[in-house]
Amino acid sequence: METINKYEITNDGYYGNFGGQIISEDLKREYTKIAEEFLKIKDDLEFVAQLDDLLKTFAGRPSPVYYARNLSKKYGAEIYLKREDLNHTGSHKINHSLGEALLAKKMGKTKLIAETGAGQHGVAIATASALVGLDCDVYMGEVDMIKESPNVSRMKMLGANVIPVLDGTKTLKEAVDASFAAYCKEHKTAMYAIGSVVGPHPFPMIVEYFQSVIGREARGQLLDIAGSLPDYVVACVGGGSNSIGIFNGFLNDNVKLIGVEPLGKGENLGDNAASINFGRVGELHGFRSMFLQDEEGNIADAYSVASGLDYPGVGPKHAHLNEIGRASYVTIDDKEAVDAFFELSKTEGIIPALESSHAVAYGIKLAKQNPQAKILINLSGRGDKDLDFILKKIGHK
Ligand SMILES: Cc1ncc(COP(=O)(O)O)c(C=O)c1O
Repeated sequence: METINKYEITNDGYYGNFGGQIISEDLKREYTKIAEEFLKIKDDLEFVAQLDDLLKTFAGRPSPVYYARNLSKKYGAEIYLKREDLNHTGSHKINHSLGEALLAKKMGKTKLIAETGAGQHGVAIATASALVGLDCDVYMGEVDMIKESPNVSRMKMLGANVIPVLDGTKTLKEAVDASFAAYCKEHKTAMYAIGSVVGPHPFPMIVEYFQSVIGREARGQLLDIAGSLPDYVVACVGGGSNSIGIFNGFLNDNVKLIGVEPLGKGENLGDNAASINFGRVGELHGFRSMFLQDEEGNIADAYSVASGLDYPGVGPKHAHLNEIGRASYVTIDDKEAVDAFFELSKTEGIIPALESSHAVAYGIKLAKQNPQAKILINLSGRGDKDLDFILKKIGHK
């Protein structure tokens, strides 16, 4: 693994006070096997060559960094976009999905189990499963299935079983609950291909490793295009995979790292999914981190207009980076995100995912306040999946 020194995970899966493996002994044995196999193959020359080739020839990496001239002219600062939206399947999720599928295949598994919110991870996992020859079950909340219906059709076209989840708010948290339950039953033959840097060790470590390609590329690209490192790197935070991926490229530099959490409809519990800003330390899905909770410590419902952001917790490394002050976490509400969705579409000719629109909105705010700054925004995905929803709710503006 690349060396990220004091930011690196411990052998038992902790980033500072956060992370761990809070699961049954039976599952621990299985997770240890996954961790051991991962640590072996990530340095295996054949595996590295196979993954690099797929990232290049199948996913379309490296994704470009684009200097957003029109936005920069309008708002003052130099604004750069890391174009993860241009990857095959439309987001950064393909980066870890290819790695997870190859790992599962190496371990002799026959199926991938995954959850999805916006459908981007589901599509990426269905794609990777089709490519390497694995069955694929994707659990998705019914509310998200309706909102992100183009992605449901794509997953089915790719041969995945899309299993509706009808519990609770019928969104991402319940989809994760259902996937974990399915994995507990099927762990001998299936692997859980989790969609973010969350869950028990070793999942955050594995997803982080595969997503770090974003930051590695972006650092070199910025130096080439802009002649120096950015002052700010901005990325949206759901579970936290695209943001950790880009942050890792700049952890040891004098660069401000800003994670953007969804404020949804406001600060009240149940109206947002800003787990660092409004959450407390707790445990869910087998790990310790910051979670939205009521006064008795029950995990609260999460909400965001962006289905991929409405998880009530955050990856353990983000909780750690926040605690030690290496990254800061701000919020953007639904309206600001939707405004940024239109703004990037009409100003630059790029339709961003609603998730990524949170980062764009904060990037624009920063540009207005810091006209001399260089700002790198991670454009984690494209907005085709959100068009039906936006047109129905808001129209063309
Ligand atoms: C385009 C896009 N960006 C961001 C996210 C949030 O996930 P993460 O915080 O793991 O990057 C999602 C989740 O579905 C997504 O589809």
